[in-house]
Amino acid sequence: MNAPHTSGLVQAKGTLTEPGYMPGWANDFETEALPDALPRGMNSPQKCNYGLYGEQLSGTAFTANPPERTWSYRIRPSVKHSARYTRVDLPYWKSAPNVVEDVTSLGQYRWDPVPYSDAPLTWLTGMRTMTTAGDVNTQVGMASHIYLVTESMKDAYFFSADSELLVVPQEGCLRFATELGIIDIEPKEIAIIPRGLVYRVEVLDGPCRGFVCENYGQKFDLPGRGPIGANCMANPRDFKAPVAAFEDREVPSTLTVKWCGQFHETKIGQSPLDVVAWHGNYAPYKYDLRTYCPVGAILFDHPDPSIFTVLTAPSGVPGTANIDFVLFRERWMVAENTFRPPWYHKNIMSELMGNIYGQYDAKPQGFVPGGMSLHNMMLPHGPDREAFEKASNANLGPDKLDRTMSFMFETRFPQHLTEFAGKEAPLQDDYIDCWDSLEKKFDGTPGKK
Ligand SMILES: [Fe+2]
Repeated sequence: MNAPHTSGLVQAKGTLTEPGYMPGWANDFETEALPDALPRGMNSPQKCNYGLYGEQLSGTAFTANPPERTWSYRIRPSVKHSARYTRVDLPYWKSAPNVVEDVTSLGQYRWDPVPYSDAPLTWLTGMRTMTTAGDVNTQVGMASHIYLVTESMKDAYFFSADSELLVVPQEGCLRFATELGIIDIEPKEIAIIPRGLVYRVEVLDGPCRGFVCENYGQKFDLPGRGPIGANCMANPRDFKAPVAAFEDREVPSTLTVKWCGQFHETKIGQSPLDVVAWHGNYAPYKYDLRTYCPVGAILFDHPDPSIFTVLTAPSGVPGTANIDFVLFRERWMVAENTFRPPWYHKNIMSELMGNIYGQYDAKPQGFVPGGMSLHNMMLPHGPDREAFEKASNANLGPDKLDRTMSFMFETRFPQHLTEFAGKEAPLQDDYIDCWDSLEKKFDGTPGKK
C-alpha cells in the first residue's frame, strides 16, 4: 500500500494502513489516495469527483504572506465531525497562564524520567504538563509536557485549536493517523502536528514516553542560516509530509478538542479521517534528527548553542524566538586550548532540556534518558565539578562526543512549573548541589591556572 515517492502528484492507494511520505520543507504538496480525487487546475469545482466535499484548512490569516493553507477533498465536510460540545477534564494537561501559588519556579531543576502508571494511558490521558509559559489565549508562549502512552486511541480523535505540537519520542514508537495521512515516529525522530489538524494516536511499539513542546504562537520554521549558507543544519529535503490516506468507517466516535486551555468532547457517528485527497502547504511532518548536520567550533572557543537550532518559532521580535528547538547530538570536539563543554552562563531565555539517549557532556551524572532539566530566566548554570575538572585537564586531541542526543526547548518567556512538576514528578531535590563542590582556585598568584 506504500505510495510511490515521486515529485508532483502522489497517489496513495487504499486506506489508513501504512505510511508514505513526500520530502521537502513547506512545499505546496499534492496527493490523492484515489485516482482523480484531486481537482485539476482549480480548488472548488461545482461538483467534486467521487462526491467528495472540498474544504480549506487555514493555518494563517488569509492575508498572511505566505499564507499557509490546505485544500482537502473529503467524504464529509468537517461540520459533520463537530456536534454539540461538552466540557471534559484532563487534569494533567495544563495551559498557560498556570502559576501555582505554592510551587516555586525560580530555581534550577532536574527530574528523573516520569514513570509509567499502572493504569493504561492514551495520548490524552497520558499527557503530563511540566511547565507553561506565556498565554494560550493571546497565542504566545508554550508548554512542555512528558507523554506516557501505553494504549491506542480507539474510535477517539483529537485536535488542538490552541497549538502546534512538536513531539520528541524517547521510548517506543507512535503512529499519528491524521486527516492528511499517517506519520510513524520512533526515538531520534520528531513529528510536528499543526494547529487544528484532527488525528488519532496509536501505539506501534510500547510503552511510549517522550516530550512535547506545545507551541501557542507562530509555527515552527527553519532558522535563518546567515553566513552558514545553504547547507548543513536541518536540510529541507529531510522533512517529510504524509501522502493522503483515509478511512470510510461509520462507528460511534468521540472527538476531543483543546480550545483556549479547555477540553471539550463531541460525539460523532464516523471517523473524521476521511480526506481522500489534498493539496497545500499546511500539513503535519516528521524529521529524522539523525540527519541533522551540526556546525561548530573547528579552531578555538565555541559558538552560542543557537548554532544547533533545528527549528525556530518566531515571536514577532526579530532574532528573539517564541521557541527554539535545539539539538545536542553526536559530534567531534576539536577546538584547541578551549574549555569544550558549555560555559557557565545566565540567559534571559528559559531553557528546558530533555535527554533522548546517552550522556550529556556538561552533566556526566544525573541527567538520564527520559529526564528533564529547567534553567529558568536569568538563573545561572553550567558544568558540574566533575565535568569542569575533566574538561579543564583533558588532553585536547580530537574527541568524538558519542552516544548522546539531548535537546532544548528555549523560550523568551519564563517557564512556570505545574503542580505535577513541583510535587508529583520525580524531582531531584539535590540537583542544586551539583555545583557545591566547585572550589575557589584564585589566590592572587600571577600565572596560576
Ligand atoms: Fe544554558
